[in-house]
Amino acid sequence: MHLTSLTLKNFRNHSDTAFDFGEGINVLLGDNGQGKTNVIEAISYLCLTKSFYAASDGFVLGFGKEMFEVESTIATESGHLRRVRVAYSADANEKVFSVNRQKIEPFSSVIGTFPVVICSPEHAPITSGSPADRRRFVDLVISQSSAVYFHDLLEYRRVLRHRNKVLSDARWKQEDTAAVLEPWNEQLVTFGGSLTWRRKHFVEEFQSFITTAYHHLVGTEEEPAIGYKPGTRIDECASQKDVEALLRSELAEKGAAEARLGITLVGPHRDEIPLTINGLDLRRFASQGQHKTFLVALKLGEFFYLKERCDETPIVLLDDVFSELDEHRSLKLLRYVEELNQTFVTSTTPQVFDHLLQRSGKHKLFMIQNGALVQERPSALA
Ligand SMILES: Nc1ncnc2c1ncn2[C@@H]1O[C@H](COP(=O)(O)OP(=O)(O)OP(=O)(O)O)[C@@H](O)[C@H]1O
Ligand SMILES: [Mg+2]
Repeated sequence: MHLTSLTLKNFRNHSDTAFDFGEGINVLLGDNGQGKTNVIEAISYLCLTKSFYAASDGFVLGFGKEMFEVESTIATESGHLRRVRVAYSADANEKVFSVNRQKIEPFSSVIGTFPVVICSPEHAPITSGSPADRRRFVDLVISQSSAVYFHDLLEYRRVLRHRNKVLSDARWKQEDTAAVLEPWNEQLVTFGGSLTWRRKHFVEEFQSFITTAYHHLVGTEEEPAIGYKPGTRIDECASQKDVEALLRSELAEKGAAEARLGITLVGPHRDEIPLTINGLDLRRFASQGQHKTFLVALKLGEFFYLKERCDETPIVLLDDVFSELDEHRSLKLLRYVEELNQTFVTSTTPQVFDHLLQRSGKHKLFMIQNGALVQERPSALA
């Protein structure tokens, strides 16, 4: 798939900006604070129904405005054009997502329809942050390729929230929790078993995607690896049913500790997904450059993984990725990215992209200034 056009109305500092994109690399150029990332964020609304980093739609609404709107024409691989629109009204606190003027509900059903891979400084915690950051990454990749996984993930979160509330209330009231927890335990086992089993398989499959991307970026001297350390003893399990049985018995074992602490101690919300280079833990031993390269490799791996599994080839959003790399690595990455699919790149420096624009008519360059598009350079004119 690719976006042919995009309009932003009252979206952050863009009061009314319109783009006609190329099918290749679209470079969004401009000084700091001009509104480049805001365009990337708007595209994330179209693909994920929300910002890839802002916690609330209200933050995205243009200052002093009542309503924002993002609209795009998306060309699918089967040759159809889809008019995709997201609008948010502050007064009604209502967000509407529509495709060809038809409201889509629930929003969760959109995930995976317009697959996207986003790499931005906001994603740095995937390699350097807590296990929750890595779980979030893995969850989004699998969710975009599997509606069943996304459904089970949302259900698991719901169950966990309720179960923790029951445990915490019982702790304060000093009640016996066994009876009240009963209805939640079996659901935790079912959805928790599903997530655990699928994450295990995902990590096994994803390894080769990361290795290929990482080697392409830096050569074969460094071996990147992704692992899976679930809260449960997965080595003993040969099937999802085994995982469920194990979770059930662990819940029984940890019942007293859960009651004492008032939280759920068993389940995939406690998984770790360790990342290593040459066997060394990335979080403890990697250089800044290795962190950045690993992050890009994870995202390129995500692209190829989703391309294999989704009906559409994902679009790629690279926010500030190039400004952090030297010119040599930038060019190498750019050549690689050229082969992927439609890509959106933000940058403050045009130099790296000049060669690119001269080489192909698919690429375009846009100058953004103060929340407006001030110049568009199709490569034919470069
Ligand atoms: N809700 C909002 N309404 C209006 N303007 C906003 C809103 N939120 C942020 N801004 C403005 O958007 C601008 C930042 O835009 P953006 O993050 O896209 O910049 P950028 O071009 O990516 O900059 P950099 O190169 O530093 O990353 C700032 O000027 C900020 O004041
Ligand atoms: Mg930015």
